[in-house]
Amino acid sequence: MTQDEKKKAAAQAALKYVKKDTIVGVGTGSTVNYFIDALEDVKRDIQGAVSSSEASTERLKAMGIEVFDLNSVDKFDIYVDGADEITKHKHMIKGGGAALTREKIVAAVAETFICIIDDTKQVPMLGQFPLPVEVIPMARSYVAREIVKLGGDPAYRQGVVTDNGNVILDVHNLTILNPVELERQLNAIVGVVTNGLFANRGADIVLIGNNDGVETIN
Ligand code: 5RP
Repeated sequence: MTQDEKKKAAAQAALKYVKKDTIVGVGTGSTVNYFIDALEDVKRDIQGAVSSSEASTERLKAMGIEVFDLNSVDKFDIYVDGADEITKHKHMIKGGGAALTREKIVAAVAETFICIIDDTKQVPMLGQFPLPVEVIPMARSYVAREIVKLGGDPAYRQGVVTDNGNVILDVHNLTILNPVELERQLNAIVGVVTNGLFANRGADIVLIGNNDGVETIN
């Protein structure tokens, strides 16, 4: 199977977690785009979606799926999203698509985080994929200097402005032995909006597209 076929298989497997008359939390990225496409089959049975990016919102609306403001929704069952890297502890690096902050917020409200990936995203230790950090623009250089003190090598993602009007620093060469602690340390730097480590709140269920089909890790 190609990587895209694996992504699609994982995305379609997530459909079975979508319950009737509920609101579905929707992430961002190429794997999630397959999930949004798959919602075509059930869109008349759900109330609608909460979205983690302008891109996903546009795609959902184009399909006639209502997108609710998160402030008008107390809670919902599932949040479906991809990842750039994931460990066996279900800790993730996310934010390759620069949507990390809204993804983390929507994930926080959901009962269950369902991560959909192809098997190339599984890693023994996080950090090969540069860790995205969303930063208030005026704090970019200060935050970069503080990240260097933590042992990282930050690179400004040129030409990218997040949906929240901020910039992204991609942090290379981190040895992430304790993702829960590093997530906390990076978020404590003044000017950081959030970082792409999803460790304090990792995934609950992982659906992995591979050559044999879809593996589920609960
Ligand atoms: C976007 C994300 C995505 O979930 C992550 O980048 C994976 O993307 P893809 O499914 O395209 O590989 O965090 O901010």
